[in-house]
Amino acid sequence: MEHGKSKFLLFFSLATCFVFLLCPTYAENKINPRANVNLSPFESWRSAYFCIMNNYSKDCAPHNTLTFSGKLYVSQDEIGNYCDGGCKDHTLALLKCAHEVKRKGFLFENGASLLYVYNKIDAACNQHSALNTSYTKPNSATSLYGRYYMPLVSALTTIALLSTFSM
Ligand SMILES: *[C@@H]1O[C@H](CO)[C@@H](O)[C@H](O)[C@H]1NC(C)=O
Ligand SMILES: *[C@@H]1O[C@H](CO)[C@@H](O)[C@H](O)[C@H]1NC(C)=O
Repeated sequence: MEHGKSKFLLFFSLATCFVFLLCPTYAENKINPRANVNLSPFESWRSAYFCIMNNYSKDCAPHNTLTFSGKLYVSQDEIGNYCDGGCKDHTLALLKCAHEVKRKGFLFENGASLLYVYNKIDAACNQHSALNTSYTKPNSATSLYGRYYMPLVSALTTIALLSTFSM
């Protein structure tokens, strides 16, 4: 009996963990991630993620659309239309959104920060020159692990603890 009960509790905790992992949509605003509370590093990371996921705009050619890669290339020929046709504004708005929900530590896959990409776009538009956000990480080894995976690990641990104690 006792044994069965603790097995059930263990199963229930694990199931709760999975529900939190797979359906984290409760009370979370993906369209307007600024509305989220974003208290934990994990929440603010997710909200920043949803900011960048709103990357689609009719003003942006698909090849000029910001993605998580952080790579953005706009040729000299395209830069006028990119800057004045709304794509620049759209892209800067995504970056601002991500910055508002996650002040520190957001990195694109190429290691570039929000500010780096923002400044590159700003500079290219001011100078009407081609935009290339290509970025070389100064010290590639630790930063991605530290900034992406540690919040994830600590959030998972927290969820596991919470679901264990709330029995
Ligand atoms: C938006 O970003 C996602 C993730 O990087 C990418 O898969 C998708 O292709 C992007 N959307 C557009 C329209 O480029
Ligand atoms: C962007 O810059 C990088 C590094 O300077 C370069 O290797 C790459 O070819 C450039 N991209 C384009 C499309 O010119």
